[in-house]
Amino acid sequence: MRAQIVGTGMAVPEKVLTNADLEKIVDTTDEWILTRTGIKERRMASEDEALSDFAVPAAERALEMAGIPGTEVDLVICATVTGDMTFPATANEIQERIGAKRATSFDLGAACTGFIYALGVANSMIKNGSIETAVVVGGEMLTKFVDWTDRATCVLFGDGAGAVVLRGTEEDRGILRVRTHSDGSLGGLIYRPGGGSRHPATNGSGDLNFIKMRGNETFKIAVKSLADVSDEVLTDCGLAHAEVDWFIPHQANRRIIDAVGKRLEVPEGRTYVNIERYGNTSAASIPIALDELNRDGKIRPGQNLLFSAFGAGLTWGAGLVRW
Ligand code: UT7
Repeated sequence: MRAQIVGTGMAVPEKVLTNADLEKIVDTTDEWILTRTGIKERRMASEDEALSDFAVPAAERALEMAGIPGTEVDLVICATVTGDMTFPATANEIQERIGAKRATSFDLGAACTGFIYALGVANSMIKNGSIETAVVVGGEMLTKFVDWTDRATCVLFGDGAGAVVLRGTEEDRGILRVRTHSDGSLGGLIYRPGGGSRHPATNGSGDLNFIKMRGNETFKIAVKSLADVSDEVLTDCGLAHAEVDWFIPHQANRRIIDAVGKRLEVPEGRTYVNIERYGNTSAASIPIALDELNRDGKIRPGQNLLFSAFGAGLTWGAGLVRW
């Protein structure tokens, strides 16, 4: 028994924030952002929009593609670090709004690697027979937590959600392998101190509410960890680099993606990149990219898809899927 992706969906805010818009609010240039990150624009939620406003339509679109009603869903995982509230889980809200009455639902916090972690959990539950159908959402509202005076972080992030529906199959396809890792000693590289029990959110929280990041150090570790964990899943499955039909990496920085693609010797034109339109949407970036590729009809049955991500924690992981 394997878990197969039978539906994909995504939803992003309507508002587009371009590099030219950022030039007006912080000391930066379109040229710097584009050459250092590959980002041209990103989506930004309005003040009255929250994660579930995008996570729910993303899940509904994935279910519609799968032709599965919400009532048949056993599990809803929402991978996020920017849910609607600290509790209850945003996944509980998604469960209610998609009509998944019988489902267990919970949020999973592994930052930008969250989607891969959630895929691994849902895959295990389907494989061990405890559930039949899962909805896995990766979604983030990071623009709500950036310091708009910190040019090194505020230009990077965007908002959105992507989702997949997983169902068991006896065929030789579906999720072949998921590997995840973490290293808490590197937690100081990317973090948001406020809002938890260490620094509860209050009107005076100010700076503690913002994402802090040591970008340059993160960059170097990201390239190595993404390449290593991708190699692990390929080796586990006895696949050569050349057998990867689509490499769908976390969209953190175009230069990171290019460096990893080079190390993995991914054939020309086989890496999917959409960072220029969305920026870094954290846990949402892989399911958004997957949905775009899928709806464009670019993925053929039998093709091998390699996902890999890294993020705060530090966390990193990879997944290999036969479509
Ligand atoms: O999803 C996981 C989350 N995190 C990441 O993926 C982040 C990974 N890291 C990165 O993507 C890159 O490190 C950044 C894009 C964040 C920064 O690029 P960099 O090439 O590592 O730049 P840097 O931090 O070494 O800064 C180089 C210069 C500095 O100026 P000086 O000190 O050389 O004069 C910065 O102050 O670029 C300056 N700088 C900017 N200049 C214009 C930093 N941000 C900006 C900006 N516009 N937005």
